Amino acid sequence: MSGHHIPGSLKLDFFTEEDLQATKGAEEKKIRLAVIGAGAMGQEHIWTALRTKRAVVRGLYDPNELSLQSAAKWFADYSSVIKYRSIAEAVADPEVDAVIIATPNYTHLEVVQEVAASGKPILLEKPMTTTSREGWEVVKIAEAYPSVFQVGLEYRQKCTYMLAIDELNNRGTIGKPCMISMIENRFPFLDKVGQWNKFSKYSGGTLVEKCCHYFDLFNVCAGPDALPVSVYASGGAAVNFLDFEFRGEKSDILDHAFVLVEYDNGVRACLNECMFSYGVADSEELIINGTAGRIRVVDKPDHKLEIWRRGNLPSFCGHVTFPPHVAETGNHGGSTFLEHETFYDAIAGKPVCYPTARDGFWSVVVGEAAERSIQSKAIVKISDILKEAGAAGATRRV
Ligand SMILES: NC(=O)c1ccc[n+]([C@@H]2O[C@H](COP(=O)([O-])OP(=O)(O)OC[C@H]3O[C@@H](n4cnc5c(N)ncnc54)[C@H](O)[C@@H]3O)[C@@H](O)[C@H]2O)c1
Repeated sequence: MSGHHIPGSLKLDFFTEEDLQATKGAEEKKIRLAVIGAGAMGQEHIWTALRTKRAVVRGLYDPNELSLQSAAKWFADYSSVIKYRSIAEAVADPEVDAVIIATPNYTHLEVVQEVAASGKPILLEKPMTTTSREGWEVVKIAEAYPSVFQVGLEYRQKCTYMLAIDELNNRGTIGKPCMISMIENRFPFLDKVGQWNKFSKYSGGTLVEKCCHYFDLFNVCAGPDALPVSVYASGGAAVNFLDFEFRGEKSDILDHAFVLVEYDNGVRACLNECMFSYGVADSEELIINGTAGRIRVVDKPDHKLEIWRRGNLPSFCGHVTFPPHVAETGNHGGSTFLEHETFYDAIAGKPVCYPTARDGFWSVVVGEAAERSIQSKAIVKISDILKEAGAAGATRRV
């Protein structure tokens, strides 16, 4: 016998399995996952997959024994988790239904090519690739793919931004967006296996690696067809990793930047990124000014949403949250949980919307343009980036 426990209420534990089965209906079959890359993010995926109760982790592939040993902590019985000897072996396992790729950025294209041979649903971490050229290769694979191909741009699935996007795009609460402003003040990049995130050639650079999330939010908020046309950025390395060397190579990544993006529909977006501004609390804030009002999100530190509407209309200011079991899963305030729910729904054929390879591409395009603008101290035209990527004339939607 089992039962429901409603917090602070009755403990309803007197039903038979037959009673309970009637409300459960046909239970969804759990998705059996292979996780490729078991570092920090791979482990967040394991943790999240298990907490959704909609998936199990059938096996892992990671060439680093220390990552595998560390991943063991998420499992009640780690001995039953298969440690594959290669990606090919993992994806060929007939007991694997879907694949999560959480390897370093510079490996993504190669790993996708290998995994895609299986035709199984894929959840690929952001940034989709380190360059737009590689990104377009992934778009071509994904758009001919017979199954789900989701990209891990999960900031859209943070509770604050989800509500803000709904108000903006679906309810039209503030009219047409005109100005988008994003501020992130945070801690420096963490240690990684092989320290790949300290080198632009492995990560794509700070504005691709980290800020692809924000450029994706810009693209979403600017409108479903809005095309970025130019990027001007100014930035540098002032504090972090100035003397950092690994295997004889010096770190070359930025730790701060201002990035200005112009869209073909007149929307202007600005990012203020600082990775040495921390100690009291991280800060992550989005402001969208539209023709009929303003939306302000303070995702960090306190998940706040403000909607101010022009005229004498009511406005709103309040706290946004997920249910505790969602918010407490993972290191991203619950967005990884939502990302998994979307992935499993998409696999089940439900009509859900998720970040596609094309979305992943456009977020990398803006990030690459920003990195180049800082190098050249000039405005970078997006059409030039697209041409070089073999993607001239690419649009936001297929
Ligand atoms: N969604 C997010 O907000 C978010 C947050 C953190 C990281 N990420 C992304 O997740 C990915 C992984 O980052 P991380 O922080 O876990 O890095 P990490 O260095 O902690 O882990 C990467 C793991 O991949 C393994 N690996 C390397 N090459 C591999 C290969 N060819 N096949 C299988 N495994 C391989 C490494 O041994 C390591 O264990 C990156 O693309 C990163 O940008 C996303």
